[in-house]
Amino acid sequence: MRIQKIVFTLIVFLCTQSICTNLLKEQLSQTGYLEICHKNCDIITYDSLYASFDELITFLQSHPAWAQKLYIAKERFIRSADRNYYATDFFGFYDESKREGRNQISFYYSTHFQDFIFSHFPEFKQVSPLIKFFEMCFEIEQSCENIFNEAAAELNIKNIFVSPYSCSPTLKLRRTGLPVLLKVIKYFPSYNPARPHYDGSAFSLFLDSTDNQSLLLSPYKSEFTVDDFSSPLRKFVRSHNQNSMLLIPGALLTEFAIYPTPHIVKQNGKIRYATIAFAMRPYHTSQKNNFLPLPRFKY
Ligand SMILES: [Fe+2]
Repeated sequence: MRIQKIVFTLIVFLCTQSICTNLLKEQLSQTGYLEICHKNCDIITYDSLYASFDELITFLQSHPAWAQKLYIAKERFIRSADRNYYATDFFGFYDESKREGRNQISFYYSTHFQDFIFSHFPEFKQVSPLIKFFEMCFEIEQSCENIFNEAAAELNIKNIFVSPYSCSPTLKLRRTGLPVLLKVIKYFPSYNPARPHYDGSAFSLFLDSTDNQSLLLSPYKSEFTVDDFSSPLRKFVRSHNQNSMLLIPGALLTEFAIYPTPHIVKQNGKIRYATIAFAMRPYHTSQKNNFLPLPRFKY
């Protein structure tokens, strides 16, 4: 009798797990995204982050020697063992404000990159715009880990975040947690993207944007046209203490039959800011994927 009860409980548990997995998988396949309420979201937090980013931009543009030093730090970091935890080379400051069409400035933040900078280039501890910006990025980055963990658990792929080398004494990892890259981006009015793209992440989380309507996306399909792309209808709009995040799959989950959501941030002729968190896969070697070509946008 006791064994029967255990078996029954196990079957109920497995069915529940399977239903959850299928529900989220189905949702991502049908719409391309999952809207998550940003509970008690303080819009002021993101507005402060963007103000802090502007201070950092002004500082680095007016102090090219510090910008160069930051670039050298990034180049050294991507040759370190910690880099492999993220399996990407995108870190640090990218000023493309003068590059035609791109017209944007972004910063890719990660906790290991911050640790690396302060331990190998301690002089950065005197640069208050960088310290302030890093403190805000750290708080936001930490808040994303649970969301990525829960999404992976619901899809029954939690192992994607387990590092095969986490017990290796040769690694200098000072922090645990997920490999999360936080991107803060400022778009200028002349920003003008030609095509949508797929993210090279496991998941991407659109945390905040000063113009949600500019983000267009489409679920993965057998072929794409411009008309497939639209701005997701949100239940929660960006206003005082209310906002929502969008979770989409990136290009690193195809082995689980989860396909990436192509997206584009269209031109709107204004300055705007956005914050995105990317969940990466530790020590992952990307397979060559032949995703479907994406249509050219004309405005
Ligand atoms: Fe993207």
